Amino acid sequence: MAGETTPDALAVSYRGVTKRYPGQDEPAVRDLSLEVGAGEICVLVGPSGCGKTTAMRMANRTVEMTDGDILIGGTSVRDREPSHLRRETGYVIQQIGLFPHRTIGQNMATVPSLLGWDSDRVDRRVDELLALTGLEPEMRDRYPAQLSGGQQQRVGVARALACDPPVMLMDEPFGAIDPINRERLQNEFLRLQASIRKTVLFVTHDIDEAIKMGDRIAILKQGGVLAQYATPAELLMAPADDFVEDFVGADRALKRLALLRVSDVDLWEAPLAFIGQASAEVRAKLEDAEVPHPLLVDSERRPLGWLSERDLARDTVPERPDSSPEPRIEADDILRDALADLLQAETQYAPVVDGRGRVAGVLSVEVISDFLASPEAKVEEHAAVDRPYGDG
Ligand SMILES: Nc1ncnc2c1ncn2[C@@H]1O[C@H](COP(=O)(O)OP(=O)(O)O)[C@@H](O)[C@H]1O
Ligand SMILES: [Mg+2]
Repeated sequence: MAGETTPDALAVSYRGVTKRYPGQDEPAVRDLSLEVGAGEICVLVGPSGCGKTTAMRMANRTVEMTDGDILIGGTSVRDREPSHLRRETGYVIQQIGLFPHRTIGQNMATVPSLLGWDSDRVDRRVDELLALTGLEPEMRDRYPAQLSGGQQQRVGVARALACDPPVMLMDEPFGAIDPINRERLQNEFLRLQASIRKTVLFVTHDIDEAIKMGDRIAILKQGGVLAQYATPAELLMAPADDFVEDFVGADRALKRLALLRVSDVDLWEAPLAFIGQASAEVRAKLEDAEVPHPLLVDSERRPLGWLSERDLARDTVPERPDSSPEPRIEADDILRDALADLLQAETQYAPVVDGRGRVAGVLSVEVISDFLASPEAKVEEHAAVDRPYGDG
């Protein structure tokens, strides 16, 4: 769908870029150089005031640089009309900035209309954008205030994507959203990005978000100085200096979990039980099982719940087990989120299901800690970073 109409994403290159705001003694961004590959997400992260927004906005000349150059697809932004540049770089901000008196459809159509597309083409594009960002077709005629914060943010992303910009600029796009919806939007965006493959400059002050979203992370410190530019795994394993180490935090081991999918670890095998099966048979399976509880599944091996001692006291396995199979974890969930689900549910084990809802194994806190302690953890990390969004 998107793949057919998307022009190739373009690489972005910062070459010794400096910004001095008038009347400021110190530059806001100092001699910044970094290369962002086409189709990559580069996250600019650092404490407030360190120059992230300034650095990002120089790419579409909504802030003019003082020195140095930025190339998009090999062409200097200085050689392009600022008004064109702004239209060609999809821009998403925290406050979303939707027009309150225009419908969702009209909001999404802002740039196509400015570019003078005919109304059929605009309509078709709005349909595509609704589908792309997972919004129901009837949202089209609603107004921003009728949508939740998360839905509005999706409209913000859709609007920025309207003209298939080769580069997206996202300034703390999920910063104002509650943690649960933020996680959902992050996942949605990563899923979307796996198909649209834009070059994205993404600003955040949240290192966890940076690790989750970034193919590469630029950590800036006060005065707009680049402290390290590296992949998330490199950053976590080899912080360049004390500033980076502090900023990344003491719980680096846990953060590594953000780089992995549940399917990257060796899951335990659940002793499976089927409805109507003899309980004695199930008990026999438990004897040398890694998980001490049988998991009841339907004929498609979809989990129905855990069987208790009381369930097993009957001759045959009942249809309705004592406890539910929640939380159910998906094999392509981020490992850190899966751990959070386990801890939140105060449960020791959770069934992991594949894309069709069938049991792929069992995750436990122990599985995760064993994994972190194993030497393969580091190797897996690199593998996960090479295909960061697990679409392969
Ligand atoms: N328009 C401006 N005029 C003067 N100083 C500015 C302007 N915008 C930002 N600054 C200063 O530049 C520095 C970097 O700001 P900013 O890029 O917004 O940082 P961040 O996005 O990392 O919080 C800050 O010291 C800020 O006060
Ligand atoms: Mg900012």
